[in-house]
Amino acid sequence: MTINDRAIKFYSTQSINIKDKQSILEVLASGYLSRGPKIEEFEKKIGKICNNKNVLTVNSATSALQLAYQIHGIKKNSIVWTTPLTFVATANTAIHFGAKIDFVDIDPATLNICPSLLKKKLKEAKNSANLPDFLTVVHFGGNPCDMDKIFELSKKYKFKIIEDASHALGATYKGTRIGECNYSCATVFSFHPVKMITTGEGGALLLNSETDKQKACRLRSHGIDLLRKEKNTDRPEWYYEQVDLGYNFRMSEIQAALGSSQIDRLGSFVETRNQLAECYRESLSDLPIKFQETLSNCYSSHHLFTIEITDRNFARDDLYRFFRDRNIGCQVHYIPVHMQPFYKEMGFSEGMFKNVEHYFLNCLSLPLHQGLKEIDIQFVSDELHDFFKKN
Ligand SMILES: Cc1ncc(COP(=O)(O)O)c(C=O)c1O
Repeated sequence: MTINDRAIKFYSTQSINIKDKQSILEVLASGYLSRGPKIEEFEKKIGKICNNKNVLTVNSATSALQLAYQIHGIKKNSIVWTTPLTFVATANTAIHFGAKIDFVDIDPATLNICPSLLKKKLKEAKNSANLPDFLTVVHFGGNPCDMDKIFELSKKYKFKIIEDASHALGATYKGTRIGECNYSCATVFSFHPVKMITTGEGGALLLNSETDKQKACRLRSHGIDLLRKEKNTDRPEWYYEQVDLGYNFRMSEIQAALGSSQIDRLGSFVETRNQLAECYRESLSDLPIKFQETLSNCYSSHHLFTIEITDRNFARDDLYRFFRDRNIGCQVHYIPVHMQPFYKEMGFSEGMFKNVEHYFLNCLSLPLHQGLKEIDIQFVSDELHDFFKKN
């Protein structure tokens, strides 16, 4: 096999099998391309895996975040804090409502929001009457945040927690599933092709009450209340009532069928990612690099395997080019959100969040996905050793 044929040219990618393809063909033959039984089937499977009945599929995690903020009462000038180490959608969705965004720096070991920096920032915010209404945590790379500590602070300072678990389907925190919403009012997952499972594009919103689920259901589909129609049995078939201002955030039947087939393999996908991550850790342990740390009693879904170069004589961008020249997929996750031009216009600047900025300069995500084998990891690892020898 030449290197061009090998799966290592992607830092992450989907795994599609015959059953996945078959499930899509079945939908095409069924006559229901939208709002059919596959949505419910997929939602039930997500619910079973996450120990949570209140599941809603949507057309992206971005839409799920928007619904999460809206049903929990975000409004103009609400204060939302999140991590700067995330994809821009986490913060953008709050800004769409006119919320004021701020960031809490990461813990350099876990790469998640640092609980002690959060505590310090909350104390200061209390003094200036600027406490957040929401804190959106991101389980970066699938690595669960320190939810006990964050939850304790949310009780003391009275803010709502949203979990952006776009990377973390299949992860567990101290024996509980990410998605149970034990610590949060909402959790979102992404089913973009690089994620744990895929529906092409797509996402899910998990909530902690049936009432919230009904609200989100209405907003997902134009604010139309189908339950009222069911109660008004004397109404004709064509009747519907719009009671809210909603959107079209629905997932199609084709996407749901793919998701429903993919999620049957989630356990093996996550296990493979964890085994391969362990191979990386073992074979790279002699190099001047740092790995993301997972808290005890937690299980990462390993959406990403990121490394941080710790020797100043080696530049991340040289390593990026070295890998690219060899057709090895790698990526930078992420340019910190506060360093984006849009956020700089809002008053953020470099130097504000030192931990994430330091990480950003030195980080790279190596290939990690369920289509890889140990031999691929060994190949990448040998190349990485070569890089440090040559440079
Ligand atoms: C942390 C995080 N949040 C939100 C999103 C948005 O997900 P989607 O593309 O499904 O809208 C992503 C996607 O990459 C993400 O990584």
